[in-house]
Amino acid sequence: MEETMKILVLNGPNLNLLGQREPEIYGSLTLESLNRRLALYGEELNEERAGKRSRIELYFYQSNHEGVLIDTIQNAPHDYDGIVYNPAAHTHYSVALRDAVASVPIPVVETHLSDIVERGSFRMLSVISEVCIGQFMGKGVDSYREAIDLLVQYLDTFPTADEREDFASVPVGFSSNALFPDEQDV
Ligand code: DQA
Repeated sequence: MEETMKILVLNGPNLNLLGQREPEIYGSLTLESLNRRLALYGEELNEERAGKRSRIELYFYQSNHEGVLIDTIQNAPHDYDGIVYNPAAHTHYSVALRDAVASVPIPVVETHLSDIVERGSFRMLSVISEVCIGQFMGKGVDSYREAIDLLVQYLDTFPTADEREDFASVPVGFSSNALFPDEQDV
């Protein structure tokens, strides 16, 4: 049976309002259209990947609730190989979501439609980026496409959790084992 590379595209609060919400900043696409475009992009990547070990499958989820997002991230390793994550406003203050990302042994890539650095003030800071393998911003749908590209490239290189942990210099969401390989879980 062909192997699959399952990627969760996860969106945080207020992104359900895309298309209506500050279109001058976030564009006119609805979340549904954004997801549809990404699904098509996944198909294009699969056509280019003929001969590669695994087929990309994209899954989509959005929530306005911090606890639901924490549960989704904690449970993600059971169902997915990696996450493309737009934490939205949580980017700038949610240590709880940062800790959730840091606690899972699958790679997470942060992405934003707008350029959070250019927008200045409190938006410049991401408390999440340090525990992600990469960060993309300011390119609308392309920020998500680039995040998917990085995740796919990364998972092609380190398909198993063991390989990822062996590659210690890559800051994948740290598990206690990756940081302290000599210590046993308590
Ligand atoms: C956002 C940027 C955040 O600052 C903001 O709170 C969002 C969306 C983006 O995609 O540009 O909700 O993550």
